[in-house]
Amino acid sequence: MIKVGIVGGTGYTGVELLRLLATHSDVELTAITSRKEDGMPVSEMFPSLRGRVDIAFSSPDKARLTECDVVFFATPHGVAMAQAAELLAAGVKVIDLAADFRLQDIASFEKWYKMPHGCPDLLKEAAYGLVELNRDAIRSAKIVGNPGCYPTTMQLGFAPLLKAGVIDAGHLIADCKSGVSGAGRKAEVATLFSEAGDNFKAYGVSGHRHSPETLERLSLLTKEKVGLIFTPHLTPMIRGMHSTLYARLTKEIDNAALQKLFEDAYANEPFVDVMPFGSHPETRSTRASNMLRIALHRPTENGTAGDTVIVLVVQDNLVKGASGQAVQCMNLMFGLSETTGLLHVPVLP
Ligand SMILES: NC(=O)c1ccc[n+]([C@@H]2O[C@H](COP(=O)([O-])OP(=O)(O)OC[C@H]3O[C@@H](n4cnc5c(N)ncnc54)[C@H](OP(=O)(O)O)[C@@H]3O)[C@@H](O)[C@H]2O)c1
Repeated sequence: MIKVGIVGGTGYTGVELLRLLATHSDVELTAITSRKEDGMPVSEMFPSLRGRVDIAFSSPDKARLTECDVVFFATPHGVAMAQAAELLAAGVKVIDLAADFRLQDIASFEKWYKMPHGCPDLLKEAAYGLVELNRDAIRSAKIVGNPGCYPTTMQLGFAPLLKAGVIDAGHLIADCKSGVSGAGRKAEVATLFSEAGDNFKAYGVSGHRHSPETLERLSLLTKEKVGLIFTPHLTPMIRGMHSTLYARLTKEIDNAALQKLFEDAYANEPFVDVMPFGSHPETRSTRASNMLRIALHRPTENGTAGDTVIVLVVQDNLVKGASGQAVQCMNLMFGLSETTGLLHVPVLP
């Protein structure tokens, strides 16, 4: 059994890791930290886990993380990079759900996250945890930077088009919406029910941390210079993410060939569903599952002469956008079948 520790077990991605790992056949949960809830049984805070998780939170200094085989950091940025060296030295693998090991460009990390990078040498060894685009590196990695939720949708949506060289890489547009759990469980006025409920707004329009991450990774897929306009929105759902991606086609390609690009790219991917051309995927078709769904459109009646491709991408921000993706990485890192513990059917209605 793989001994698993979770730092930050009281947050939304932490409890989602607990939900997924509680039924994972090859995992034993051995340590779960909380600075505030030291000693509280996990099932007392999360009754959904009664009978499934029978350990208690412990403060990070008491948790015996070096005795684990892998530690997930479901914490804000800055936490994993302070502890990664000690864990790696003890032979423990690290999967960080925050941004400490996502961006290879340290100057960019420091600009967007407003802190010095604590372990640039380890960063060089880290694998970016988007399995569909980086499987081999993850398999042999000791440290993984799990992708951001929006960047997962943008990369999987644009990748087949960029790799095929059929779009103008310099003018990509991503119009993305996230459920409120994307902001985490900490108390904030903007995510109060009476602020976020029955309301809809954009945020971070002039600049968002997920832009540099997405640009860095998309740039690996094409020789062209990538340009991205990314507009995130907060939508009054608990879970779910819907990204509408736009790109201008630069090559003659018919709809069937466009569709085939995506079907071929994801033919063997258990967690990417390419829906029939012209479909309208719904966030609820992925709720509580690790599935991400994609559908293509190409409007012709709007004066664009059909030279714009629209890619709709939906996922559950807490699963494929965070904790499910992290478990998918863990499975690879430990030589397990990639789908172990992740084959939940989405919850509907
Ligand atoms: N929510 C999403 O949809 C989503 C998607 C992708 C990635 N992420 C990323 O995943 C990470 C966790 O997100 P979240 O939404 O789960 O956040 P959250 O709900 O705010 O939870 C944060 C957790 O980290 C712990 N924590 C905070 N500061 C800590 C510190 N200095 N040392 C140790 N533990 C600390 C907190 O527990 P205590 O205060 O009890 O210690 C809590 O359990 C973030 O980096 C986020 O950007 C989130």
